[in-house]
Amino acid sequence: MLIHLSSWPEIDAALKSGHALSSTVIVPIGSNEQHGPTGLLGTDWLCPEIIAHAAEKGEEALIVAPTFNIGMAQHHLAFPGTITLRPSTFMAAIGDWVASLTRHGFERIYFLNGHGGNVATIEAAFAEIYAEWSYAEDRADFALKLRNWWDLAGVTGLCNSIFPTGHGMHATPSEIAVTQAAYPDRIKTADYEPRIAPVGPIRDALDYRARFPDGRIGSDPAQASPEKGQRIIDAAVPALLKDVADFAAEVLPGT
Ligand code: NI
Repeated sequence: MLIHLSSWPEIDAALKSGHALSSTVIVPIGSNEQHGPTGLLGTDWLCPEIIAHAAEKGEEALIVAPTFNIGMAQHHLAFPGTITLRPSTFMAAIGDWVASLTRHGFERIYFLNGHGGNVATIEAAFAEIYAEWSYAEDRADFALKLRNWWDLAGVTGLCNSIFPTGHGMHATPSEIAVTQAAYPDRIKTADYEPRIAPVGPIRDALDYRARFPDGRIGSDPAQASPEKGQRIIDAAVPALLKDVADFAAEVLPGT
């Protein structure tokens, strides 16, 4: 079930159903930021949303929250359309999402992430949330998990085999391909120069734009295609379902 397309009695009933997945919720999380001259600004939140929604189509007991679509993108701010939060804002918002979902009885919250730049701050947010329980000498009655979609079993291997060169770190052909599979009428093309973008450190927004003028890092998105994207989605969906089922079945000590 998708929470945003459900009514509250439906979510209430799901929580009380006793199904193995009934107290687990997936939160697709990403960032709205430039992805080179052809990549959609939403790429990093669209990819986890596309995979989570495809998984929900095959397993209707899977509960998926609305997508948390703004994250850590300060270094992309020199490109129009990018929207970012400060790390402190992001952490506070994650805390409020978790508090809202656990209030209703969700005991496992699984963040399916689409942006590498979010990882450190999501982990820090988890530590902030757990710290309140630790200080109180109490145990949290919920568990949190972070999984990057490309770290789902078999996905990175598949991406590397499809794109042995020019995968890169930002505006990668694999993430562009996933969005092309879901939104084929939004595919854009460009003459990439150089074909494979440069690599380097990530600092502030003006430094980034000077180092990476069209926004890409190390990638050649011209290799992307909807067919390749669909292969990646088809590999990610069963891996996600298995990962979520394992998380839902995990025994929490003291419960
Ligand atoms: Ni990305």
